[in-house]
Formats: sequence, C-alpha cells, structure tokens
Amino acid sequence: MERSLVVGGSGLLGQNLVRELRASGEDVLSTYSSNEASASREGFVKLDIRDPDAVAELLYSFSPRHVYLPAAMTNVDQCERSPTQAWDINAVGTMSVAKACKNVGARLLYVSTDYVFSGMKGSRYYEFDNPDPVNIYGQTKLEGERVTLDADRHNLVCRVSVLYGRSESGKLNFVTWLMGELMKGNKVRVFHDQYVSPTYAPHCAKVMVKLMGSEEKGVFHTSGPDCINRYDMAVAIANEMGMDAASIEKVATADGGLLARRPEVSCLSVDMAESVLDLAMMPFKEGISLMNRPNGR
Ligand SMILES: NC(=O)c1ccc[n+]([C@@H]2O[C@H](COP(=O)([O-])OP(=O)(O)OC[C@H]3O[C@@H](n4cnc5c(N)ncnc54)[C@H](OP(=O)(O)O)[C@@H]3O)[C@@H](O)[C@H]2O)c1
Repeated sequence: MERSLVVGGSGLLGQNLVRELRASGEDVLSTYSSNEASASREGFVKLDIRDPDAVAELLYSFSPRHVYLPAAMTNVDQCERSPTQAWDINAVGTMSVAKACKNVGARLLYVSTDYVFSGMKGSRYYEFDNPDPVNIYGQTKLEGERVTLDADRHNLVCRVSVLYGRSESGKLNFVTWLMGELMKGNKVRVFHDQYVSPTYAPHCAKVMVKLMGSEEKGVFHTSGPDCINRYDMAVAIANEMGMDAASIEKVATADGGLLARRPEVSCLSVDMAESVLDLAMMPFKEGISLMNRPNGR
C-alpha cells in the first residue's frame, strides 16, 4: 500500500486530498495545525511547519512516498498585516517540508496560487509566464514554489485560484459564504473587477492525485477552466439556487477597503494539465451544481 502524507489535511483542499487518497486505497497520514477538532480524528497528527525538527521527524517516522502540501497562511490581508508570519509559514515552512522530503526520498506536490501573478497581463496566465506578485501572500507563495522546485526536480507545483466547496470544518469560502448570505436574504457587495479561475476543491484533489501518480514534474495550473469575475460568479450561484440576484451589488476593488492589492485578471490557462492528463477541468457552473448534491464530487 502506498503511503501519502497530507500536510494541512484540515483545510478545504487538504480534506479533499485525504478523502481522494483514502478512496484510492492509500495509507494516508494527515496533519492539522490549529484546528483542534481534527485532533481526535483517525490518521491526523498536529504539525506546525515552522518547526523544522518536527517536520523532519514526522517525515522520517512515516516515510511517505508522496507528500501533498496545501498547508499555508491563506488569508491574503492577514499576510499583508503579518509579513514575517506569512514568510515563516509559506516560504520557510515549505523549505523545511521540501528538505525533509528530499532526505527521505519523497516526492512533493506544493499547492500554489494564481496570486503569484500581478494580473497586469490582462488575460490568462500560462505556466511559462513570469510570476510578478503584488502582495505579500503572492510573494511568499512564490518563494514556496522556488524552494519546492529547487529541492528536487521531480517535485510538482500546482497553482489554483479561488478554491470552493463544502468544508467539513464549516470554514467559509467565497461560494459557501455567498450561498449563506443569499439564503438569509442579506444584501451582498461583490467585486466586479477581479477575474479568477474558480477551483472546485473535490475535483482539484482528484487531478492532483492523478498528477502525482504520473511522471510529470514542474509547474501545472490545476484550477477551473473559467475566467470569470466575482460578481458573475455570484449571479451564477443565485441562479443555481433559484434565487433573485437583485440583492447582489457590484463593487469596484478600489472601493472595497482591502489591505492587500489584488490582481485584476489572474485567470489561469489549464491547457497543459488537461492535455497531459487527458481530462477536462471542472467548469464553475458544474461545480456549484454538484455542491448541492449529497455526494458533491
Ligand atoms: N483558498 C483559496 O481560494 C486559494 C486560492 C489560491 C491558492 N490557494 C492555496 O491552496 C492551498 C489550500 O488552500 P485552502 O483554502 O484549502 O486552505 P485552508 O482551508 O485555509 O487551510 C490551510 C491549511 O494550512 C494549515 N496550516 C496553516 N498554518 C500552518 C502551519 N504553520 N503549519 C502547518 N499547517 C498550517 C491549516 O491547519 P489548521 O486549519 O489546523 O490551522 C489548514 O490545514 C493553500 O496553499 C493556498 O495558498 C488557495
């Protein structure tokens, strides 16, 4: 039986990776950091990737063949507020994981972001485009990519954009937040000038596991295939729920009071992943429709 470690299995993408790997018959160990609800769950251990000795010890004792690293400081404005913490987790923490993987001969898949790009290109980004992040989150995640690829040329970097799906922990993401607000009959204000490639976490996890099982290496875009702004996402969600979109108000990012700069168009091209894996990434409309089914995968 193959052994896989998911560092950050308590997060949205991480829990889907754990589920996918278990379903494919792997022996999976997963980590959490602050989400104590995971403490009592089978196959979960506590790990802070800022502790290099703990990282090395876990990798040595479990000896996985594959390591998935979705763990990160993911709150973009919080990263801007606490740049040292963001650097320690997203860059230095990733380096500890990459080094430990190298030492035990494990292949690493590092989860990255569309925010490594400035958005100034004005159209979809390809894997070969030069990253030019405009905020601390993007800068620290880019460093995470570099240390992953420097550690071993067989490692993988998978970039995603606006992850969505139902979370076991109940932690909200853009889509579940919006669904909740619409259900409560609240008015919402949504940016019309941030174009992204929304990524359905359960499907993305499947794609990552498939990539890890292949001979592929280097950088891949594994987001959804759309290039859509957040306002249009919100309208699509209202339509899917059979609700009136009149309570959704368009707002410009400049008027949103966000601390960190956001790229305007950080859409990703998924041609390469679709071509090498011979599959189609999941369109947003399909993902939100699946979310409303009992086994939304
Ligand atoms: N969310 C998005 O829209 C989005 C967009 C683009 C890229 N990404 C990337 O996709 C990945 C997954 O995102 P997500 O939304 O699924 O994340 P998430 O739900 O915010 O979960 C983050 C995970 O990281 C763990 N973690 C945080 N600090 C840690 C530390 N110091 N040591 C060890 N683990 C730590 C958390 O553990 P606890 O919960 O136990 O604290 C949790 O398991 C991230 O790498 C993110 O940068 C996300």
